[in-house]
Amino acid sequence: MTSQTFWDRHAPGYAKKPIADVTAYEEKLRCVTAILKPSDHVLEVGCGTGGTARRIAPFVAHVTATDFSAEMIRIASARLEAEAGPAPEFLQAEAFQDITEQPYDVICAFSLLHLLEDIPSVVNKAFRQTRPGGRFISKTVCLKDAPQWMRAMVRVLMAVRIAPKVTILSRAELTRHLIEAGFEIDQTQYFGKNRLSPFIVARRPAN
Ligand SMILES: C[S@@+](CC[C@H](N)C(=O)[O-])C[C@H]1O[C@@H](n2cnc3c(N)ncnc32)[C@H](O)[C@@H]1O
Repeated sequence: MTSQTFWDRHAPGYAKKPIADVTAYEEKLRCVTAILKPSDHVLEVGCGTGGTARRIAPFVAHVTATDFSAEMIRIASARLEAEAGPAPEFLQAEAFQDITEQPYDVICAFSLLHLLEDIPSVVNKAFRQTRPGGRFISKTVCLKDAPQWMRAMVRVLMAVRIAPKVTILSRAELTRHLIEAGFEIDQTQYFGKNRLSPFIVARRPAN
């Protein structure tokens, strides 16, 4: 089973799953929207069923939201039909694939980077697709910072394909990759009780 098939299969369940910690999610959204400007063109990569993209859209000029799962994008698009107000543009695309509108003022990647391979190359692409002076905002599970038993459990779940394939990295490694790509770190914080998924605001220097 490819990763894409895994996420296609999980999309209907993902759409129905309630947000685990609503207070932490709302705090994250407040931090994101505090950075956004009405003129911004935003890209959300790995948008899933589009809930966050829909929340961001009223604050900016345009949101493009991509996911490689056709099923996630189908559900995200169907949900738009039931809602009024500014709508994101949902596109099926591989993460950080070249798409026409680049570079973006802000790129968001929530619960995504750990699902990708070759993080240095991914972060380099994010840098190229962010306009000078723009932001790359991510929240990523850093399993290398988790207790040994948790990493062992994830490896078992991956082996039996209950969990998707993940890259096991630490917050320090992710931060180093971002800096090596050319970003400066504006902010790192955690929301709620979760200490394994740092929210990192990285800025591409203006010049
Ligand atoms: C854990 S979900 C997170 C969804 C959403 N960002 C959120 O925070 O709720 C991960 C999403 O990333 C997508 N994804 C995983 N690997 C991807 C890839 N290589 N390219 C594009 N999307 C990918 C999956 O289809 C899934 O929708």
